[in-house]
Amino acid sequence: MSMSQDEMKQAVARAAIEHVPAGIIGVGTGSTANYFIDELAHIKGRIDGAVASSVATAERLKKHGIRVIDLNEAGEMEVYVDGADEITRHMAMIKGGGGALTREKIVAACAKKFVCIVDQTKLVDVLGKFPLPIEVIPMARSYVARQLVKLGGNPVLRAGFTTDNGNVILDVHGLNILDPVALETELNQIVGVVTNGLFARRGADVCLMGTPEGVQTLT
Ligand code: 5RP
Repeated sequence: MSMSQDEMKQAVARAAIEHVPAGIIGVGTGSTANYFIDELAHIKGRIDGAVASSVATAERLKKHGIRVIDLNEAGEMEVYVDGADEITRHMAMIKGGGGALTREKIVAACAKKFVCIVDQTKLVDVLGKFPLPIEVIPMARSYVARQLVKLGGNPVLRAGFTTDNGNVILDVHGLNILDPVALETELNQIVGVVTNGLFARRGADVCLMGTPEGVQTLT
């Protein structure tokens, strides 16, 4: 049976509903997260509300009549559900293709469990084929880019894009990320970097992966 990438995304979004507890949950950003929000709408009476990882996600939640709760009021949550651009079997991820990496990392940090929802094209042995997004304070753009070149990357400014936090994104090409935890830590040390798109120090706890044969669960 052939299945499109969108159909696989929809299938994992549906499967993720089983991981939604009562109370408040954290919700990610992107096309897979959007499918999840649409599924969440069917069971919205079961939850108190959701913390959004972007303005776009907040708008979609509200459109479905799901209460959007400020993270500072929510406190610690049981679950955060989000997609990824790449994920390894060790549950390290590259995120930020949609530019929402900073708020995603913050909301994920406040959740006990990160449920990653992806189609099978996102599973990789080594991270880095997908350019690594880095959110940068605008005035530090050139400085940060020079440091990234020293680390062997080829940073490209995401043209015409400003994050929800008013910053820019450098997409770093050409990295072969063999030690994602070490690189995430190293990138965090560069002055002017707000957040890097490596989610390895705190990776996913469960990955629901859509395949043509059905949804696989990786832990
Ligand atoms: C947004 C993200 C997304 O989770 C990532 O880009 C995957 O998106 P999609 O579900 O559309 O493939 O990190 O910042």
